[in-house]
Amino acid sequence: VFAHIVRAPEDPILGVTVAYNKDPSPVKLNLGVGAYRTEEGKPLVLNVVRQAEQQLVNDRSRVKEYLPIVGLAEYNKLSAKLILGADSPAIQENRVTTVQCLSGTGSLRVGGEFLARHYHQLTIYIPLPTWGNHPKIFTLAGLSVKTYRYYDPATRGLDFQGLLEDLGSAPSGAIVLLHACAHNPTGVDPTIQQWEQIRQLMRSKALLPFFDSAYQGFASGSLDADAQPVRMFVADGGECLVAQSYAKNMGLYGERVGALSIVCKSADVASRVESQLKLVIRPMYSSPPIHGASIVATILKDRNLYTEWTIELKAMADRIISMRQQLFDALRARGTPGDWSHIIKQIGMFTFTGLNSEQVVFMTREYHIYMTSDGRISMAGLSSRTVPHLADAIHAAVTS
Ligand code: LMR
Repeated sequence: VFAHIVRAPEDPILGVTVAYNKDPSPVKLNLGVGAYRTEEGKPLVLNVVRQAEQQLVNDRSRVKEYLPIVGLAEYNKLSAKLILGADSPAIQENRVTTVQCLSGTGSLRVGGEFLARHYHQLTIYIPLPTWGNHPKIFTLAGLSVKTYRYYDPATRGLDFQGLLEDLGSAPSGAIVLLHACAHNPTGVDPTIQQWEQIRQLMRSKALLPFFDSAYQGFASGSLDADAQPVRMFVADGGECLVAQSYAKNMGLYGERVGALSIVCKSADVASRVESQLKLVIRPMYSSPPIHGASIVATILKDRNLYTEWTIELKAMADRIISMRQQLFDALRARGTPGDWSHIIKQIGMFTFTGLNSEQVVFMTREYHIYMTSDGRISMAGLSSRTVPHLADAIHAAVTS
C-alpha cells in the first residue's frame, strides 16, 4: 500500500547537515544550520545550563509526572517576563496567556492553529525572504500565506518602502509575521524608528502582529534591547502573539523548549484564549516535556545564574561579531571583487552573503563548505581556523 510513495526531498536547512555528515573530507565545514559552535568547532553546553541541571539532579523531590497541557507554570511566567519585560503592564493586568511549546517551531504552529480556528482573518503575511519553515508551518496550520517585501538585494539591506507599501495594502485584520530581532536569513533588522512606523501602520489597519523571537540576546547582545520591538507593540495596549525559543540563546536546541504568549485586551479574554490553546495542544502532543523548561526556569529565577547566563550569551554574540570582522578582513586581504561590508553590517547568527545557488554548489563541491542554497551562512559555525578556508572558497566562487 505504500509502494507508490515518492521520496521527499531533504529539508532545505536540516538537509545540509545530512549532506555534510556524508562527506568524508577532513576540511569539511558546516555553515548550514544556525547552531552555535565554539572556536574549536564544537557544540557548546552553557555553564549555567550544566549548573541548573546539577541542581535539578540533586533535588530528590523532583518527579517525572506529566506537566499540565500548557506546561510548567513557573516557566511560562518567567518566559513572558523575559520577552515583555518584568514591569510589563500587560503581565501585571493578567492580560497575557503563555503556554510552553516545543521550541520556536512548536510555538508558531500552536499559534497558527489557534488563529486558524478562532481569528476572523486567515491570511498571514511573512517577510520575503524568511525562515524556510515559516510558510510550511502556517499553511499546515490552516492559514493562507502571502509575502511582504523585506530585503533589497541591491542594497543588501531593508526594503523599507516596499515593506510599508505591502503592509499598507494588506487587508484589514491580516496577520503579520515579524522577526523580533536578528532576521533569519538576512541579518537585516528595521531600526527602532522604522519599527515605530511599522507599528503605527499596523495598528492603523488593525493588522495582527505575530512575533517570532528566536534570537533574543543575539542581535545586540542585550536581552532587553532585542525585545524592544515586541515591547513597543505591547505598550500600545493592542493584541499580539509572540513565539519564543531557547534553542539559540540558552543553547537548548535538542531540548525543544519554547513558549507562545498571546497578549489580549483583558484578563478574562486571556483566560478564554488559554482554554482554547489547550484544545489545540492536547490532541497534538498532549503536554510538553519537563526537562528543558525546568532548566530555563532554574536559570531565569536565580539572580546569579541569570547574570551568568547574560555573560555567556554575550560571549557567544561577541564571538559571532568577531567572525564577521575576520571574514570581512580575509576577503579584503584577498582583493575579492565586490562590496562585502554587509558581512559586518548584518546582525545575528547569519550572513546573507549574496552568493547565488551555483556559487554555493561550487563551494560545496570544491571546498566542502556546506550552506543553504540561498547563500546564507551561519557565522556561529565559523572559527578563526576556518575563516581562511571560507574566504578562499568565496574568492574562488566569485572569480571563477
Ligand atoms: C536555522 O534557520 O538554521 C535554524 O532556525 C534551525 C532550523 O530549525 O532551521
